[in-house]
Amino acid sequence: MISKTMEAALNNQISLEAYASQYYLAMASWCDREGMEGAAEFLHFQSLEEREHMMKIFHYLSEVDAFAITPAMPQPPLEFDSVQEVFRLVYEHEKKVTQSINDLVGICYKENDYNTLNFLQWYVEEQREEENLARGILDKIKLIGEGGQSLYYIDKEMKKVLASVQAAEAAAEGGEGA
Ligand code: FEO
Repeated sequence: MISKTMEAALNNQISLEAYASQYYLAMASWCDREGMEGAAEFLHFQSLEEREHMMKIFHYLSEVDAFAITPAMPQPPLEFDSVQEVFRLVYEHEKKVTQSINDLVGICYKENDYNTLNFLQWYVEEQREEENLARGILDKIKLIGEGGQSLYYIDKEMKKVLASVQAAEAAAEGGEGA
């Protein structure tokens, strides 16, 4: 059992994670159209991750006998100025999600809701990783520069980033099962 305030706040988080999933999907489509295959693959992967983040909260709400609301979504942007702009927006969105998770943790303490606090620990860690990842990608893009051949190197780099994220995830899943 959780409070109505917590139920509403978690539903708000569902909405934020769902929007991130749609947002990154729109970015993937734009990158694909621009011939940035590696960036598109990375963003498709990230979009699916965000859906998983949303679903975890969905199931948690059911588990604690609260109501998970399927959110209505605004249309995400379909056009972007550049690949650097795409990852700047990813980083900005991740910072917003982190702030929202921190606010949720604050509500847990205010309401002595230690079950939800425990549930949110995974998100606290995940946000640290995701923010760090987005910032790292953005720094790399800035370093490589944009235009002509740079786009080729950025895209190659994105494939490497995706491979290392997937390998880390597979290792973590293997560890969980051990
Ligand atoms: Fe689920 Fe990237 O925030």
